[in-house]
Amino acid sequence: FGPKPLTGHKLLLTAGPTREPIDPVRYISNHSSGKMGFALATAATQMGAEVTLVTGPVNLATPLGVTRINVESAQDMLDAVMDNVDNQDIFIGCAAVADYRIAEVAESKIKKSSENMQLALVRNPDILASVSALTKRPFTVGFAAETDNVEEYARGKLERKKLDLIAANDVSIAGLGFNADANALHVFWQDGSQQLPATDKLTLAKQLLTLIATKIKTS
Ligand code: C5P
Repeated sequence: FGPKPLTGHKLLLTAGPTREPIDPVRYISNHSSGKMGFALATAATQMGAEVTLVTGPVNLATPLGVTRINVESAQDMLDAVMDNVDNQDIFIGCAAVADYRIAEVAESKIKKSSENMQLALVRNPDILASVSALTKRPFTVGFAAETDNVEEYARGKLERKKLDLIAANDVSIAGLGFNADANALHVFWQDGSQQLPATDKLTLAKQLLTLIATKIKTS
């Protein structure tokens, strides 16, 4: 129970890694566990929001009351987000989207022959920037996993991707961030910032969503 500051609000979020196919049996991906995104989905539901979660392949159960859409590649994730973004009040991009995909996916399994091989990659679309570029857009929130110059890079992304708010985590701190159960965030917006000290991801998710709730009330 507790306060429900997101009652009547619709939240769309992305979580987990994306998988970029190489051929029918192989892919490139990353180590995102999806835990932060799923914690946000859980917390937002408890706070009264109607939640749609677009997720890459992860080993996590669907939080109670959440509408889950499973995707694999970045392009699939973008399509699912664009299909569901109308009438959303808040969008949070929490997924670790692969920056590149394979230029030409092989139709059958690639056989090993020579000692070396090269894969040509092309840039994936930026899902978060695509949402913030919409004319009728939700309150748009991004994440930034940085190892150094956290504030500078986070503020750069806030500006470049035209976000309302960005939550940065310092992934160089052992035991926090990627794959861990705990995290710490430094949140930035146009004219302010707030530090959310290290705690479990569900508590952190509630703190971040409480901050977002106060921002959408005044925006
Ligand atoms: O630029 P960078 O990848 O560090 O930005 C991270 C933020 O952008 C995250 O919120 C992530 O979910 C989002 N993102 C995205 N689509 C991409 C790359 C990143 O939505 N192709």
